[in-house]
Amino acid sequence: MNDHNDAIVEEINRLRKERNAVILAHYYVDGEVQDVADFVGDSLQLSQAAQKTTADVIVFAGVHFMAETAKILNPSRKVVLPDLEAGCSLAEGCPADKFAAFVARHPDHYVLSYINCSAGVKALSDCIVTSSNAEKIVRSVPEGTPILFAPDRNLGAYLAKKTGREMLLWRGSCVVHETFSERKLIALKTRHPDAVVIAHPECEPPVLAMAAYIGSTSALLKYTAASPATTFIVATETGILHQMQKQSPEKTFIPAPPEGNCHCNDCPFMKKNTLEAVRDALVNLAPEITLPESLRVEALAPIERMLALSAG
Ligand code: 13P
Ligand code: SF4
Repeated sequence: MNDHNDAIVEEINRLRKERNAVILAHYYVDGEVQDVADFVGDSLQLSQAAQKTTADVIVFAGVHFMAETAKILNPSRKVVLPDLEAGCSLAEGCPADKFAAFVARHPDHYVLSYINCSAGVKALSDCIVTSSNAEKIVRSVPEGTPILFAPDRNLGAYLAKKTGREMLLWRGSCVVHETFSERKLIALKTRHPDAVVIAHPECEPPVLAMAAYIGSTSALLKYTAASPATTFIVATETGILHQMQKQSPEKTFIPAPPEGNCHCNDCPFMKKNTLEAVRDALVNLAPEITLPESLRVEALAPIERMLALSAG
């Protein structure tokens, strides 16, 4: 860390105390922001942490739907998102009005939505899932009940295959996870024959087919720490490599390559959470996440159902 960053971290530490704030960070934000957070986790762990906290302010170093979920679960806290432009292609690709029409056309379906969606979509859902608990929750839906799943078609297809359940899918995708190149991954694996390929279920089916292990960010992290293997090719957003390397400094982690000559495996939304933006959010207590109480209450019920099904 350089002197400039050291000074910002000092400011963040002072302001965090003054504001009685907690900083929650997703594994996909930059390592330096993860290191300043009080808690780093996956989508499920972060919603549980947000629900429990007694801090006056939650600074959410993540994306909009995560901060909104925190507000839904713990409405008496002030929730700030360092950059309001931190959206998500999955949430944006599933507008609530279009989703309402889709649900209305399939009234017999049980509506499961991935947490990567707006409060409006959550309010139209029977239950929410994250990538950590999705399989368990799909299996909890009574056999014979058809399932409508939104918004991620890749996670949906993966779950349908894994559980054998009939699932009608909304056709959304994540701009980061659809970017990995099967062709380049095969070439990389040829150069590192001992490397273990691991992938997040938001990846496209050909990439998932090459993975020895598929899981949520926290599951991938746990897997790399416990595995006797020493080299991993990681098909998910690059931010997770920071924690993998921290937990297993002796192991080698290679990011799976995107198709183009780009940094497309960096989530442009997550990376908006710079140290400066976190500091400014603590100074200004803004941008604040708010939502109408009626919508909050409607979106809360399916999230609480998810949390109850995730316990134990
Ligand atoms: P998890 O945190 O559930 O692994 O999801 C990854 C993701 O894409 C978050 O936006
Ligand atoms: Fe959304 Fe994909 Fe970024 Fe996660 S990685 S926040 S799913 S765009």
